[in-house]
Amino acid sequence: MKNLNETIQKVLRDESDVRSATAPFQADFPYEHDEEAQVTRREFCNFLGLTSAALFLGAGGFATKAAFDARKSESFYAARIEGAETLARNSSLNFSYPTERDSAILIRTQDGAYHAYGQKCTHLSCPVYYSRDHQRLECPCHEGAFDAATGNVLYGPPPRPLDTIEVELRGGQVWATGRRASADEHAS
Ligand code: FES
Repeated sequence: MKNLNETIQKVLRDESDVRSATAPFQADFPYEHDEEAQVTRREFCNFLGLTSAALFLGAGGFATKAAFDARKSESFYAARIEGAETLARNSSLNFSYPTERDSAILIRTQDGAYHAYGQKCTHLSCPVYYSRDHQRLECPCHEGAFDAATGNVLYGPPPRPLDTIEVELRGGQVWATGRRASADEHAS
């Protein structure tokens, strides 16, 4: 107990030594805690503002690039879609177009018409499939759905229609002749 008291007295003595040693400097350089807190808040607000602006500009840049990519037009070669001529109504087959890496889906609707789309969902690129029961394209990832005859979004999170692959009937065969990003449908 005695030792504890001595320690406390020593700490208080040390503190009073420090206070008296720093007093002249505090008079020369007055320090207001509240002011510092305000500066700190101001700096923090500035930091938040700059960070928000940077994020906003970054997001805008990505959106602009995505819009540009979606709208750029390219020329495509014609390619026969193997097996399409024997495709039953209300069914689909997968193919690739224009390159092996571009998976696509051909649908033959109940009326016998052919429609083809890029297989990547326009939400987060999951592959869509044709639901014969619902006669529409569905995305298994977040329950998005697209119209089989137009590629338009029926419901769910996809922000735009599927990319369209143009098809032509040539002597009973089905050919892919072009691919259009869905944003082009609204551009003219
Ligand atoms: S990836 Fe298709 S709905 Fe999300």
